[in-house]
Amino acid sequence: METTTLPPVAATHDYSLAMRIWHWANAALISGQLLTILFLKVIVDTKSAGPEFQKALGPSVVLSQPQSRALGHVISERIWSWHIGIGLTLAGFWLFWTVMQALDPAGRRFGARLRAALQRYRLAPPAEHADARHALLAKLTYAAFYLFVTIMVVTGLGLTWADDVPWLHGIEHTVKEVHNFTMYLIIAYIVAHVVGVVWADNRDDHGLVSRMISGEDPRKPDEV
Ligand code: HEM
Ligand code: HEM
Repeated sequence: METTTLPPVAATHDYSLAMRIWHWANAALISGQLLTILFLKVIVDTKSAGPEFQKALGPSVVLSQPQSRALGHVISERIWSWHIGIGLTLAGFWLFWTVMQALDPAGRRFGARLRAALQRYRLAPPAEHADARHALLAKLTYAAFYLFVTIMVVTGLGLTWADDVPWLHGIEHTVKEVHNFTMYLIIAYIVAHVVGVVWADNRDDHGLVSRMISGEDPRKPDEV
């Protein structure tokens, strides 16, 4: 009779050096992108700074609306250039991740780890069903994240060159809307992800975060 064995758990818990570098660099770059938007739209908010510019200049100088808009533009352009710089680096990391998928040993590739989690879920005995479902859900959120970041990179590159390429200019508005909306999906992912890993680390997967930092499992073999 044919026997089916569960795929090893280790296949979903092995963080190579390349993966760890990618994870933390990617997390820093995405946080950087969110910070540029926080500064642009909330902290600096040049669109509403007109009266403050006027107050700073005093009554002797009267600033027209176009002039105060031009001043605001100078400041926002500085922040946008950071957004584009970080965005291009993020695009480079996205390419690095894609190449890594092709070069990593088969068991470490994301597609393989997702399939392994799916197979474990399907084959898990009732006692392990909840754990297997949790592992599969986590992998599905990662798949969603990889989709979101791909959309962000593609639309971001589109926006970067929208002024130079006529057909990109024609769809700029739609591309911007998609780029904007996907940001909220990424924020939702980050909140769910950080809460999820910290929760798992505290409950039944001690050392999970540490493993994503050092690559080593701090638990003794009999605790794994
Ligand atoms: C912008 C912030 C972040 C992003 C975009 C992000 C993204 C990701 C992604 C895509 C994965 C899946 C990797 C894979 O299996 O292919 C992952 C795994 C992981 N991340 Fe993050 N991460 C972020 C922040 C953090 C933070 C702050 C922590 C620690 C508190 C953390 C801890 C982990 C851990 C422990 C895993 C492995 C979980 C597992 O194997 O299921 N991440 N992260
Ligand atoms: C997680 C990553 C990212 C987030 C959260 C993000 C967020 C945003 C937001 C909210 C806008 C404003 C859209 C609007 O005005 O309606 C924007 C614009 C833009 N983004 Fe991103 N973005 C990200 C990644 C990227 C990437 C990878 C690039 C590629 C270089 C990029 C390039 C741009 C450009 C060129 C603009 C338009 C700037 C302008 O109007 O002058 N972004 N981004």
